[in-house]
Amino acid sequence: MAFGQGVVKRAQYPRLQASMLSEQEKIQLITQISLDINEVKDLDILLEKILSNVRKVFNADAGSIYLKRGDTLRFSYSQNDTLQKKLGPNKKLFFNTFSIPIDHHSISGFVAKNRSIVNIPDVYQMDGSQPYTFDAHFDEISEYRTRSMLAVPMINHQGDVLGVMQIINAKDENGQVIAFSKSDEMLIKHFATSAALAIERAQMTRDLILRMISMAELRDPEETSDHVNRVAAYSVEIYEGWAKRHGIGQEQLSRKRDILRMAAMLHDVGKIAVSDLILKKQGKLTPTEFEIMKSHTYYGARLFVGKHSDFDAIAAEVALNHHEKWDGTGYPGHIDPVTGKATPGFEGPGGKPLPKKGKEIPLFGRIVAIADVFDALSSNRCYKKAWDEDRILAEMERQSGSHFDPELIDIFFSRLETIKSLAKRYSGDHNGTSQNQQFALPLLS
Ligand code: C2E
Ligand code: SIN
Ligand code: SIN
Ligand code: SIN
Ligand code: FE
Ligand code: FE
Repeated sequence: MAFGQGVVKRAQYPRLQASMLSEQEKIQLITQISLDINEVKDLDILLEKILSNVRKVFNADAGSIYLKRGDTLRFSYSQNDTLQKKLGPNKKLFFNTFSIPIDHHSISGFVAKNRSIVNIPDVYQMDGSQPYTFDAHFDEISEYRTRSMLAVPMINHQGDVLGVMQIINAKDENGQVIAFSKSDEMLIKHFATSAALAIERAQMTRDLILRMISMAELRDPEETSDHVNRVAAYSVEIYEGWAKRHGIGQEQLSRKRDILRMAAMLHDVGKIAVSDLILKKQGKLTPTEFEIMKSHTYYGARLFVGKHSDFDAIAAEVALNHHEKWDGTGYPGHIDPVTGKATPGFEGPGGKPLPKKGKEIPLFGRIVAIADVFDALSSNRCYKKAWDEDRILAEMERQSGSHFDPELIDIFFSRLETIKSLAKRYSGDHNGTSQNQQFALPLLS
């Protein structure tokens, strides 16, 4: 049978979870997944997709992805079905990030350094002939029992190790943990190669976006990337809630989510056109200065108009509309980003653009507005201090129906716990700069 598109359809993935797959089915599934992951451009979403798919193929309870950063391995993404079940269906499991050296002491470090696969039937029963040891810290803290483990290096075409993919606790039909087989080793190698290529591409896109943002904001790059990552993560979370309520299918949801995440990161990219003197002003802006500041919306959109990808369309939509308000008092209104003037047919008094209100404001603009203000209020800015949580939440609630779409504010509050976990995950303190923390800690809020 020929492999390729259509052999194993996406819609069939969920059915496969329950049963063990034949070798042939595994090969087909891996081929299809390799095609699918190449469509994903956002790095975080890609890691999520790679890991959930590879776990499905090998019926593995848990797994992690480490990405190489400089000369260390950074624990970048993790999943664990058992811990997720304990947490309950409406909560998401998050882990802190941390870095480990690329050396022979840890399993992942060994895999990256030796560029070889490691297949361990039981991490507590190693015979002592290997240089690496299993770090039981995570198991102790989370009351998990790691047993079988398959860890594989992700290597690109140039031969560079990009990271390590690790899957844990393969299960048989009855849910009993079993060892990974010899043929699993061969299969996961193929998968790791396509994962490496997709990750490399996503990292290039991410780097490009971060460069655009740091040029635009002229701020500390660490702070900048945290802020945009949070706005992007909150936006995706709100969109997922909206998509569930509106019966959006899984395929459209995952495609839009990926694009929204990158577009939301770029919401303020138009600040590149605003003078540093205004951007970094310590005090309040004068009315004239604020008028100039407002142009960051359509200058941002201008970078993406005239291009035809979904990504460009959504990035333009977000940049243009993220300061519109539900009640029509936001900016810039019905403006054509190319001319900077009113959209024909939407001229108000004196030729000024008419305001946009309610659902005239595109969905992703309404979503990013909430994410952006929530993060702005939670953060120190050159012109203001961070607010405390009660005050922020009161303000978000108060602005429902005036600044914000009331339905989206309901969704925001219904997902607040996850949003708060995302805030922790994407803030400097928890980003693994701590040297003494070398193990995964589930972040349970
Ligand atoms: P930003 O700092 O990212 O803020 C984004 C949005 O969060 C603001 O949009 C506003 O809707 C909300 N926000 C932020 N801080 C506060 C606050 O203390 N109180 C309230 N009620 N809302 C707040 P806005 O106002 O359209 O401002 C857009 C951008 O203009 C801001 O982005 C910031 O870069 C700049 N900006 C606004 N006001 C000032 C200011 O007084 N001084 C300086 N230097 N920059 C300002
Ligand atoms: C995590 O669970 O560690 C990260 C979740 C995400 O980035 O979407
Ligand atoms: C893309 O078109 O997918 C990414 C564009 C960018 O990185 O700016
Ligand atoms: C959409 O379906 O993308 C927009 C609907 C809305 O604006 O609520
Ligand atoms: Fe903005
Ligand atoms: Fe912002």
